[in-house]
Amino acid sequence: MADYDLVVAGGTVVTPADMFRADVGVRDGRIAAVGIGLKGERTVDADGLLVMPGGVDSHCHIEQLQRGGGADEETWTTGSTSALAGGTTSVITFSTQFKGGGILGPLAEYRRRAEQAMVDYTFHQIITDATDEVVFNEIPQVVASGVRSLKVFLTYDPLHLDDRQFIRVLAAARRNGAFVTVHCENYEAINWRTAALLADGRTEPKYHAWSRPPVVEREATHRAIALAEMVDQPIQVFHVSHPEVAEEIARAKARGLKVWGETCPQYFVISADDMDRPGFEGAKFMCSPAPRDAAASEGLWKCIRDGVLDIVSSDHSGWSYETPAGKRVHGTDAPFRDIPNGVPGLAARLPILFSEGVSKGRIDPCQFVRLTASNPARLFGLYPRKGTIAPGTDADLVLWDPTRKQTISNRLMQHIIDYTPYEGLEVTGWPVATIRRGAVVMRDGVVQAEPGSGQFLARAPYDMIKPTGNLPFGFDASAFQV
Ligand code: URP
Ligand code: ZN
Ligand code: ZN
Repeated sequence: MADYDLVVAGGTVVTPADMFRADVGVRDGRIAAVGIGLKGERTVDADGLLVMPGGVDSHCHIEQLQRGGGADEETWTTGSTSALAGGTTSVITFSTQFKGGGILGPLAEYRRRAEQAMVDYTFHQIITDATDEVVFNEIPQVVASGVRSLKVFLTYDPLHLDDRQFIRVLAAARRNGAFVTVHCENYEAINWRTAALLADGRTEPKYHAWSRPPVVEREATHRAIALAEMVDQPIQVFHVSHPEVAEEIARAKARGLKVWGETCPQYFVISADDMDRPGFEGAKFMCSPAPRDAAASEGLWKCIRDGVLDIVSSDHSGWSYETPAGKRVHGTDAPFRDIPNGVPGLAARLPILFSEGVSKGRIDPCQFVRLTASNPARLFGLYPRKGTIAPGTDADLVLWDPTRKQTISNRLMQHIIDYTPYEGLEVTGWPVATIRRGAVVMRDGVVQAEPGSGQFLARAPYDMIKPTGNLPFGFDASAFQV
């Protein structure tokens, strides 16, 4: 009788720390052994392939509830299919709050929808209205249910929080042992520049970038970090688009603050010029913060190598190009202000990062694993169950052909969205199989998994996000109901 249910044989195992030739033995959905000459009931040949932890995408929008009813076009089944096609086995998505309402109702509805998932999943809880009821009564319940991270927006109507509300969310997180992620852009500055651009007749998609230059993101990042320092609450800055923004994170880390930074593939391969394509085409590339230029992209790689940016997520936020409810919901002549923000990228995340990073010699495979799996798992309380390859961990693996050349097309992305901003991009390195808790759920691009086979990942308290204990004058204002 074989020792293992499944053996992934003869590949090069890549962990966050090292790379070595080994077999991986799987029993009951977990890794049972990493060694040589393992025998399983089934064998997957990984000769010539890298065997890496399944991707953990800690920032993606899937079937997120919308204000007027309904939800994002990307469903849990299509989003899961896309994730698995691209080598990602766990996701963190968003349960939202609508101003004037609470968070428990939307979370219950969102959990119901997520029961269709085919990847493992957990959520960030968005707070758009930091009422007494929410911060003192509902956030404790949400955190106790295993949703241990909150998300706030410092811009966007009608989502943004002012400083007082943001501080109240930071304090609620501190009281309840939760983490806070932040969309950092200055709301008033963007609105002011937008009004001026529209008054001047500059309405096309390319002016999206003009409305929110890097300084707007840098200011909000500085402010978010300063307020988090005052409350002594660890935070992650989402989707950093420019090295001058990352500088704020570098300074915070140097001062010993618990501040982490994320960036996304779009900031490596899309630029502001893409939003200047003819007609309405530029809308396909619109996201916030806005894509910048080639120099900024190269600068982000240095921030990654220097350890300033820790995670590369997709920020998958799909709006189809041709459908009436997508990018053109307000018509193709709509001013940039009214075009939905966001680009799809669940399946493209790993191939773009591998190709631009590892294949082009900017990072090594272990760093790739850290950025795409281990660091998100650590930061969001999923490690070591997720994000590494070692006995006892979930058998979530991606088998990767590092030499395979592929041209990205929308068909390969397998999402519901009718386009990819990466159409035609040549990449080197491609996922050939995805294994989720020991089940082969993708092979040569064919995804086979049952809706509902994904598991909710409840997150218990963990050390990484504990406050430092350094409070101004030693006074903990978050202990008071203010
Ligand atoms: O433009 C973007 N990034 N849309 C998704 C929502 C967000 O801001 O993360
Ligand atoms: Zn955001
Ligand atoms: Zn997002």
